[in-house]
Amino acid sequence: MRPLQNVATPSSQKKSLYALPTVSFLVLFLLAVFFFSRRALEPKLSLYRDLFSGIPLLSPLLPISDPVQANATISSRSDELDYETRNATEFAPVATQLVDGGRGDAEGNAAIERPTWGKSCNLYMGNWVRDEEYPLYKPGSCPYVDDAFDCQSNGRHDSQYLKWRWKPDGCSLPRFNAADFLVRLKGKRLMLVGDSMNRNQYESLLCLLYEGLPNKSKMYETHGYKITKGRGYYIFKFEDYECTVEFVRSHFLVREGIRIGARGNSNPTLSIDKIDKSAGRWKRADILVFNTGHWWTHGKTARGKNYYKEGDYIHPKFDAVQAYARALKTWAKWVDENVSPEKLVFYRGYWSAHFRGGDWDSGGTCNGETEPIISGSFLDNYPSKMKIVEEVIQEMRVPVVLLNVTRLTNFRKDGHPSVYGKNVTAGRKVSTRRQDCSHWCLPGVPDAWNELIYATLVIQTS
Ligand SMILES: *[C@@H]1O[C@H](CO)[C@@H](O)[C@H](O)[C@H]1NC(C)=O
Ligand SMILES: *[C@@H]1O[C@H](CO)[C@@H](O)[C@H](O)[C@H]1NC(C)=O
Ligand SMILES: *[C@@H]1O[C@H](CO)[C@@H](O)[C@H](O)[C@H]1NC(C)=O
Ligand SMILES: *[C@@H]1O[C@H](CO)[C@@H](O)[C@H](O)[C@H]1NC(C)=O
Ligand SMILES: *[C@@H]1O[C@H](CO)[C@@H](O)[C@H](O)[C@H]1NC(C)=O
Repeated sequence: MRPLQNVATPSSQKKSLYALPTVSFLVLFLLAVFFFSRRALEPKLSLYRDLFSGIPLLSPLLPISDPVQANATISSRSDELDYETRNATEFAPVATQLVDGGRGDAEGNAAIERPTWGKSCNLYMGNWVRDEEYPLYKPGSCPYVDDAFDCQSNGRHDSQYLKWRWKPDGCSLPRFNAADFLVRLKGKRLMLVGDSMNRNQYESLLCLLYEGLPNKSKMYETHGYKITKGRGYYIFKFEDYECTVEFVRSHFLVREGIRIGARGNSNPTLSIDKIDKSAGRWKRADILVFNTGHWWTHGKTARGKNYYKEGDYIHPKFDAVQAYARALKTWAKWVDENVSPEKLVFYRGYWSAHFRGGDWDSGGTCNGETEPIISGSFLDNYPSKMKIVEEVIQEMRVPVVLLNVTRLTNFRKDGHPSVYGKNVTAGRKVSTRRQDCSHWCLPGVPDAWNELIYATLVIQTS
């Protein structure tokens, strides 16, 4: 619940001025807190810096040079540097070839086989490394960023959080190449289906593609819709590539409904055995990216009371995690029956939010975080819902690629809008009470998820 709780605050040092018993008590207390709540602890980075000064915890300092420059010599050299710093024993030369393949000379790399590559490089274990060439598009430059994610325009002043690149231990991701991405999409429909986190990711993808498009007017929403919270369906067309990138809102992937109570009042229900009504649209896509997770919390699901429905039966009380498992099975069945195996289906993993001192609806905060978590047990948080996702996917006929971003996302306590989900400039008073520590500033963390989609496309089609 309090992953970012900070034990060694400066105030604990001030206390040393007080009498000895107080100090001893405090020390004991802090030790007790430390040992009993280790799981929930994520001390400030500075603490770790002091403890481990001299040890390179992240590998960023050396290979600042772009690992995917148009020069195979450079890219393999930078991987060697990483090898030296990180001792990436999984590293295999094949990974370097992938990096080259990402630049479009994939034809020459017919020898790359997916399984070999997958074994040699786990895309999801790695570190965030500093990269001065990031972000991939300038804050405020992209017309598709929701106000709520437009942190810099809303008054966020620190900018170091923009300069991180995800670096798997055993290889480098191909640098995002919008033109190459669109060539791979040619004639296809790519669709993101899910909650507002997927909209967050969708906006990021639109921005990444927009940035690389020579003639920006060749990209447009087919109905002219502007992206807002209110609307649940968008189709962006890329004229020169005959492809579309679409978003369909579906918070739960299964069907929401209402129940009329005895007094004529209506309450929401969720049919965990029926696929969402928007599924008709999903069928049209060639590449699908699903997610659901954040809405399955007690507050948003009526605390499980008279909410979950199977057939005509409304469970008086039902556990959210169990309901999630049943809903995912419903989703899996739908995919197996409606998606042909040559299509590409992703499921994007989810993560625990970075609220300190409360939850999203009870005063939790994450403001003032300007650096990622470097190490600690919080990084290893792997929600039980994710284990369910893995189990369900394993049983499916259609192969589903798990974008296993939980861990890499866990690092980024610095990437949330916090109080900058709305415009706080013009001397408006910043309310620190309601903060957004679930979604992400753009540019930001969702760009990395999309880089991983791109990497997967490169692997699958090379
Ligand atoms: C590649 O790198 C080598 C060594 O740094 C350099 O001599 C060569 O000109 C580069 N080639 C290209 C195409 O940039
Ligand atoms: C790298 O890891 C391998 C296998 O764990 C080990 O044998 C080797 O000594 C390590 N090298 C360095 C430089 O730490
Ligand atoms: C960009 O595309 C628009 C719409 O197709 C076209 O009218 C315009 O001439 C193009 N601009 C350039 C610089 O090619
Ligand atoms: C996904 O990542 C987690 C670590 O966050 C790991 O425990 C899990 O095994 C991974 N799942 C797959 C399918 O690779
Ligand atoms: C925020 O408010 C300031 C001052 O009123 C304005 O200049 C700026 O454009 C606003 N930003 C956004 C994103 O609306």
